[in-house]
Amino acid sequence: MIKEITAQELNPEHFINEKIKDIQDIVGDGMAINALSGGVDSSTVTMLGHRALGKSLKTVFVENGLMREGEAEQVVGLFQEFGVEVDVVDARQEFFAALEGVDDPEEKREAITQTFYRTVFGRMVKESGAKYLLQGTILTDVDETVAGIKRQHNVFEQLGIDPQEAFGYRIIEPLVQLRKDGVRMIGKALGLPAELFERIPFPGPALAARVIGAATPERIETVRKATVIVEQLLKATEAFQYMAILHKDRVTGMRDGNRDFGQQIEVRCWESVDARTATPTHLSFETLEKLASELIRDVPGIVSVTYNIAPKPPSTIEAV
Ligand code: XMP
Repeated sequence: MIKEITAQELNPEHFINEKIKDIQDIVGDGMAINALSGGVDSSTVTMLGHRALGKSLKTVFVENGLMREGEAEQVVGLFQEFGVEVDVVDARQEFFAALEGVDDPEEKREAITQTFYRTVFGRMVKESGAKYLLQGTILTDVDETVAGIKRQHNVFEQLGIDPQEAFGYRIIEPLVQLRKDGVRMIGKALGLPAELFERIPFPGPALAARVIGAATPERIETVRKATVIVEQLLKATEAFQYMAILHKDRVTGMRDGNRDFGQQIEVRCWESVDARTATPTHLSFETLEKLASELIRDVPGIVSVTYNIAPKPPSTIEAV
């Protein structure tokens, strides 16, 4: 049982000092690796890890081919400003090979998990001699995985999987007692700029969680283009999270007087505090129309745009 620390009872200074000491005690004079995606959780754990371990922590950005437009350059550039070197590991081929022909949501998540932890980190740990992987798992990830709702890509021990046995390294999770609101407080206290700790959450399986059906390079590219538009148009809402989802079903449309059996994008925009429950944002019809016209205009093959109005539960935040 993990003991939750709520945002109300969290004392950031105290928490940071305690976790720095824990990380130092575990790693000793060894080496650790950590994966930075640029999301709130991994950015926070990266800063915490560097405070604790300095040069004994190697930070990598795994380019899995599923990230948002320009993400690698943006994240590497930002962290360079704080004196954190980030190595980009190109694993695009490995991820797309593992995802080939995989349609089922949980099988997709499993393929991503195995590629991250067994293939990519397994190799890096061997090459670097590191014995620990530091990562930003939070309590919400654990809850949903244990409840069998969604297999979050980064949860092992609570499922009875020993990472040492399965992958050959130990996993350190300093944020696992917190939820998103608590992590934001820690990120802020560690000196992360607002553009990072206030970033909307982004899932570990990345854009593959936003493609219903097979995550091919082409379909990922479609949802990536749609994501740029949705993030730009909905930023001003200050909602908890917003996203574009590519549906699997095609619908009959028309373009230039011809039949176009095209694709559909579903837009979601969520009000939430901690991602456990969420309700759709009341967007104006004007905003919805703007979303539709830009998505149809700039994303090739899209003939239909919908807005999700169901709350979580029974919906979940990501579609996959
Ligand atoms: P769901 O879709 O389960 O999402 O309602 C709840 C929150 O978690 C994020 N999410 C993930 N985060 N690994 C993560 O680190 C994952 O596998 C994962 N799946 C979903 C999601 O974006 C939302 O903020």
